Amino acid sequence: MNAFIQDLPKVELHLHIEGSLEPELLFKLAQRNGISLPYASPEALRTAYDFEDLQSFLDIYYQGANALITEQDFYDLTWAYLERCKADNVIHTEIFFDPQTHTERGIAFETVIKGIHRALQDGETTLNITSQIIMCFLRHLSEDSAIETLKQALPYKEFIVGVGLDSSEQGYPPEKFVRVFKMAKEHGFLTVAHAGEEGPAQNIVDAIELLGVSRVDHGVRCVESDELVARLIETKMPLTVCPLSNIKLCVFDDMSQHNIVSLLRKGVAVTINSDDPAYFGGYMTDNFKAVSEAHDMTHQELAQLTINAIDASFIDESTKREYRSRVIDYVARFS
Ligand code: ADE
Ligand code: ZN
Repeated sequence: MNAFIQDLPKVELHLHIEGSLEPELLFKLAQRNGISLPYASPEALRTAYDFEDLQSFLDIYYQGANALITEQDFYDLTWAYLERCKADNVIHTEIFFDPQTHTERGIAFETVIKGIHRALQDGETTLNITSQIIMCFLRHLSEDSAIETLKQALPYKEFIVGVGLDSSEQGYPPEKFVRVFKMAKEHGFLTVAHAGEEGPAQNIVDAIELLGVSRVDHGVRCVESDELVARLIETKMPLTVCPLSNIKLCVFDDMSQHNIVSLLRKGVAVTINSDDPAYFGGYMTDNFKAVSEAHDMTHQELAQLTINAIDASFIDESTKREYRSRVIDYVARFS
């Protein structure tokens, strides 16, 4: 099964680029930028990655992002992630970035977006990986700050396909961002939102109804409402599920308790994603393997996860058709 997973074409729809900053690169950037770190080595930093919930992770994640200063830093970060994509046969990726994490500490929006965009362009030409960028608003910051961030994004509109919502879910419900999401839609951005990761099923309903999202990020707490699960199936609403993340942040006790496979078998459009792979112990292949090791899955079910991701992606229909046939050919060849 692991050989099947290794070469299975994959599509990632939930990846925070700042969460792909490996300790080794973090140390290299900190040295390049003259920043001192409260850890002696990358190994010592890695031992601090022991989280009890989302907030305990976010505190360390925002600290790590402080090492990113120049356009070249954002390029190097994105390029390192794309090389991991290549190794895992990720053929398309839609990456999140958190502009406010950088603009709040004086880094220009332009510096961040240009570095990420240039690396993604090189990834397309030299690694043959297609991609999109989604910018997320931090839900623990104000609505005004989100609106200001949207304004900063407008000159780079052609680089950004959509807007999302991330950071602490508890206490910061979707309704706080109704106006800025409406403005973003008027400017032509698609919308997604983290909901039902740590927060209740009602956040998923509100993300759909109040923010008009095309996908729900995480969404695993949908099982608290049978009516909501039925609606997700009926409307084919995709969930970008992040299995290793959910274990690391104690959303589930262990992978055998995870609900992704039971949701898949019910007909929910679930997908597998890595979220913040440098912090959660694995990229796409690792996530697929962890799920398949804990649940007895067929080749067809594993391939369905990629088909769901292709269907849910923000790429054009002809590329979707080409990617679907790559997956179907792969399964046929393997059997
Ligand atoms: N930012 C980075 N990773 C996140 C996650 N899993 N949930 C919410 N915000 C995030
Ligand atoms: Zn996330």
